Amino acid sequence: MIGRKFFAVAAAAALALAGCSSTTSSSSTPAPAASSAAKSGGAGGDVGVFTWWADGSEKLGLDALQKEFTTNYPNDKFVNLAVAGGAGSNAKAKLASDLANGNPPDSFQGHAGAELQDYIRKGQIVPVNDVVDALGGSKVFPQNLLDLLTVKGNIYSVPSNIHRANVVWANKAVLDKAGVTTSAATIDDWLADMAKVKSSGVATPLSIGGTWTQVQLFENVLIADCGTDKYNGLFTNKTPWTDACVTTAADHFGKLLAFANTPSDGDDWPGATDMVIDGKAAYNVMGDWALAEFNAKNKTYDKDYVAYPTPGTKGNFDFLADSFTLPKGAKNPAGAKDWLNTIGSASGQKAFNLAKGSIPARTDVPASDFPAYQQGAMASFKADKIVPSIAHGAAVSLAWNSDISTAVSKYMGTKDSKTLVSDLVAAAQKNQA
Ligand code: GAL
Repeated sequence: MIGRKFFAVAAAAALALAGCSSTTSSSSTPAPAASSAAKSGGAGGDVGVFTWWADGSEKLGLDALQKEFTTNYPNDKFVNLAVAGGAGSNAKAKLASDLANGNPPDSFQGHAGAELQDYIRKGQIVPVNDVVDALGGSKVFPQNLLDLLTVKGNIYSVPSNIHRANVVWANKAVLDKAGVTTSAATIDDWLADMAKVKSSGVATPLSIGGTWTQVQLFENVLIADCGTDKYNGLFTNKTPWTDACVTTAADHFGKLLAFANTPSDGDDWPGATDMVIDGKAAYNVMGDWALAEFNAKNKTYDKDYVAYPTPGTKGNFDFLADSFTLPKGAKNPAGAKDWLNTIGSASGQKAFNLAKGSIPARTDVPASDFPAYQQGAMASFKADKIVPSIAHGAAVSLAWNSDISTAVSKYMGTKDSKTLVSDLVAAAQKNQA
């Protein structure tokens, strides 16, 4: 079974935060929900879909889904409510105010795990067991992924994909010129490689974007320095944030940043990834949505660029999954279910994930339908230990993520690692159940 260990940990963490208990959802015989509904052409009317896949390579995935949707449900009109900004950096605030004001979209993007539990706890989304069961339930989605979407037997969203957040994307020509021929095994080895890249004339060996990309980099370093079990324990009250591994990670984080560009808060991830594509940096730590950016710029995997687990994290798969919800009070719930059927169908997952860089949440989409990077990600997801992403809602609630982001952002100004650790300790005390 895929990712068994993590899902148990993260579900427990998420549900502890939500103050709920989970029960196993029922599964039923797969029924061709999408195709039977498609015969009738869909519910009709506008279907407003809220994401942060607003432009560039991010939008290509949404476009692929929209195409499937309009083909299967010609009666429905897709209304794109996307708000630009990677990781929902702008979208989440707009979504929160729309939900609070009783003006929900027909469906919105939420991360499996702790983030989704926030919406469930606030009563902002309603169960979609009928859709998930008709799509095949646990026969086509890993039960432990469904558990991250489930409270008291109610399933609250349809997962579209699984992304990996601990990937280094590196420019091969830049590394060759610097004489760096192998990928570093530890953060310290990686720092030594960065020094070589810098000596070869690249001012910023490591590229970073705005705050959430820095949080993601920090989470990678935490995984490297704490290891799987201690890292997972940070979210289940088993590892105190005062643990020495957090201090080591804060120190390593500062050393890595000494090799990085100085971004503004709003700088988005494509700019940072493009620095690698354009040879202005050797390395960028980014989720595998970056694959879509390399594809969009006609770069070839293993020739122009390489991608591998962040040094020190090999054997861990830093997990996040996008999933789509049915908000309470949605104007067109039947149309929203047509959208959810599209996302959850095998053909929808193939079209979307090919364009997005992620791997299907469904287990019945053949790996051979995907190119080399994604085949490798699928194999890692099966073999590796699974750890939840902080920056992308799997490990922590929206509020906790926001407090960690504030701590990291403050650190960028002060570079005071002691204060970073004490801010992280305070954030855990405030947010952990
Ligand atoms: C994540 C999301 C991904 C990708 C990324 C960058 O939060 O789950 O699908 O969009 O942000 O925007």
